[in-house]
Amino acid sequence: MPIIQVGHLTKTFRITKKEPGLIGALKSVFVRKYDDFSAVSDVSFAIEEGELVGFIGPNGAGKTTTLKMLSGLLYPTKGTVTVAGFTPFERKNDFLKKISLVMGQKNQLWWDLPPMESFLLNKEIYQVPDTQFKTVLAELSSLMGIEDILQVQVRNLSLGQRMKCELIAQLLYSPRILFLDEPTIGLDVVMQKKLRDFIKEYNKRYNATIILTSHYMDDVKELCKRVIVIDHGTILFDGALDEVIRTYSNHKLLSIIFDTLPPIHEIKLLGNVTLHDGLQVHLEVERSKSNEVAAHILKMYSIADLNIEEPPIEEIIRSLFSQKKQRHVPA
Ligand SMILES: Nc1ncnc2c1ncn2[C@@H]1O[C@H](COP(=O)(O)OP(=O)(O)O)[C@@H](O)[C@H]1O
Ligand SMILES: [Mg+2]
Repeated sequence: MPIIQVGHLTKTFRITKKEPGLIGALKSVFVRKYDDFSAVSDVSFAIEEGELVGFIGPNGAGKTTTLKMLSGLLYPTKGTVTVAGFTPFERKNDFLKKISLVMGQKNQLWWDLPPMESFLLNKEIYQVPDTQFKTVLAELSSLMGIEDILQVQVRNLSLGQRMKCELIAQLLYSPRILFLDEPTIGLDVVMQKKLRDFIKEYNKRYNATIILTSHYMDDVKELCKRVIVIDHGTILFDGALDEVIRTYSNHKLLSIIFDTLPPIHEIKLLGNVTLHDGLQVHLEVERSKSNEVAAHILKMYSIADLNIEEPPIEEIIRSLFSQKKQRHVPA
């Protein structure tokens, strides 16, 4: 039985329509016109306990709206959601203790107080027993390497340190299900990596179920076997990450280093040259012909090195989204 089940989930926002100009503005005071706008439409998926799923899509795709419905902050317009056997928007205490929504852009810590005070507050809210609080806090802060900043005012912490404290505050009650909304946004590469390692470890250690949204494909590549791709409020793909590549990319990349300067006009006949720098050439070829073309090159030319590679996932995702029409954004 999946721990998260979502069926035909839809969220429609009602937006006031304004006509342009002053007359329009005046008119709208008297006659309100509305537009219904679906941020999420007819989304269905199921997630098993212990899965770490990447939820990806461009800005405005409906990721945050979906996560808010899963954590009960928003009421769905249509459809069903079950998380750990609960209906999220009932916001039952037993449900709230099981889940955590962490938003990278939103600070939930007390700005003027040290993180420890926020931790203690959450301990009360979520009724965490003393011994559990101590054990979990010790474990999490050493995992994150922040034991020495627990008494520093939050306003004096770096963004990375704040994000780690934010996570700890949300994890103190040992939630079984995490909704991580852009947890690595704005962090430098080193910090991103550390946070990623932490998420991976938390998933493994507690068999926690995690849905992660991120702008950074590195996060998704490193953490998630499965991805759900959403755009314009609807799901485009749900499956293994490597399958995205096979499904959406019809070419492979031959990365070649020649022994002598290559006859580039000949090479161009074999595919699309995307890089030509001295002895090095990148050649895009149709997926089904890649072996044949590679064999041909090895036979015809003197080659120092040749690799057949999958195109970068970033590129595939980008082209996947650009194929879709831009959504109409209401003014
Ligand atoms: N409270 C709201 N009222 C009206 N429109 C909203 C509201 N919240 C989100 N939207 C719109 O819904 C769409 C999806 O937003 P969101 O779920 O935040 O996308 P994402 O997290 O994928 O960037 C966007 O077009 C956004 O402007
Ligand atoms: Mg968002």
